[in-house]
Amino acid sequence: TGLTTLDNGFVNTASTKSAITFIDGDKGILRYRGYPIEQLAQHSSYLEVAWLLIYGELPTADQLATFDETIRRHTLLHEDLRRFFDAVPHTAHPMTTLSSAVSALATYYEDVLDPNDPEAVEASTIRLLAKLPVIAAFAYKKTIGQAMLYPDNSLSFVDNFLRLNFGTMAEPYQVDPIVSKALERLLILHEDHEQNASASTVRLVASTEANMFVSISAGIAALSGPLHGGANEAVLTMLARIRDSGESVSTFVERVKKKEEGVRLMGFGHRVYKSYDPRARLVKESADEVLDGLGVHDPLLDLARELEQIALEDDYFIERRLYPNVDFYTGVLYRAMGFPPRMFTVLFAIGRLPGWIAHWRESNADATTKIGRPQQLYVGPAERDLGR
Ligand code: CMC
Repeated sequence: TGLTTLDNGFVNTASTKSAITFIDGDKGILRYRGYPIEQLAQHSSYLEVAWLLIYGELPTADQLATFDETIRRHTLLHEDLRRFFDAVPHTAHPMTTLSSAVSALATYYEDVLDPNDPEAVEASTIRLLAKLPVIAAFAYKKTIGQAMLYPDNSLSFVDNFLRLNFGTMAEPYQVDPIVSKALERLLILHEDHEQNASASTVRLVASTEANMFVSISAGIAALSGPLHGGANEAVLTMLARIRDSGESVSTFVERVKKKEEGVRLMGFGHRVYKSYDPRARLVKESADEVLDGLGVHDPLLDLARELEQIALEDDYFIERRLYPNVDFYTGVLYRAMGFPPRMFTVLFAIGRLPGWIAHWRESNADATTKIGRPQQLYVGPAERDLGR
């Protein structure tokens, strides 16, 4: 219609009201339900923040203990779903495996798919939180040809996940507390980020009254792209390429500025943050601590620092207000923990799951939510005659 205006990439249009996450992109502020990310990253746990995002308030100690225990009791996958992984080629990208397996998960839970049944919504919430890390670890084990382990519910959420990835049938696995603490912190930093592409995808699917599992599966698919969550893997690929090519960092930056074959400085820039990304600052702070703690010296971290330094002083990046985003340093940390680059975006997905669930539930609980149905400006041919 004549009233429709084009908003390419939704730069100006709010798609919803939301009470979950607040961002001030100019000031570099990020708050979950009012609490600053800095405080949560320092003093909270993944599950506590998940509860906060999903239910709106911090849990009491009892609520948190029950939540934790309930999630531990739901970590097992149906044996048939375990066999789903037999049909996946070992070359598959774990993000593709992840979104497929989460869709498949819905087929086992016909009883909890009704978005209008509050008990079903609770059951879906618990099942997704408990099983996504297990599916993620299975997707990883598949790529390296190792047997999948059963979860050990005596372990905490993060430690269980680490053991499922790095433990083997052959020997007991000892979780390194430095790795565990660092991973928990990174997961917290990723838990929500208001109406980004994947959360918006989840909400759009939710608006059709589709179930939570398939909505989250769509969110995982949206996250997989290199301009969104896939950037953490792309940063590592970029750093490794620079190292292997012997090209200097400044030559690479020149190629970025010339937009050579669409080369971008991955891990830089953000639609919302225009002064700095508070998550990136926290990750950078952790990087030294964790790498020192683990006794790892990674030349890629040196390369990342050099790249950041050069870019931050360059007019191209200054004029466009491009700063390191959360993905710039996470890859170096994940690598130090032992994860291969193809798992980086999977880790982002586990981090982001509580946010997606919170968005799905907020949209679903709001009686005024309408089915998402964007307009278009038609630019195709006017009416023509088939002439038959
Ligand atoms: N390297 C080089 N140039 C860039 C970059 C970059 N990383 N990001 C933006 N630009 C340039 C872009 O070419 C454009 O220049 P010009 O005005 O000359 O055409 C200008 O800056 C504005 O860019 P845009 O593409 O209009 O900005 P956007 O808000 O649409 O895109 C972005 C945001 C994050 C997709 C983009 O900055 C980007 O592609 N960054 C690299 C990928 C990345 O790190 N993504 C992770 C985002 S944070 C984690 C998450 O939430 O997913």
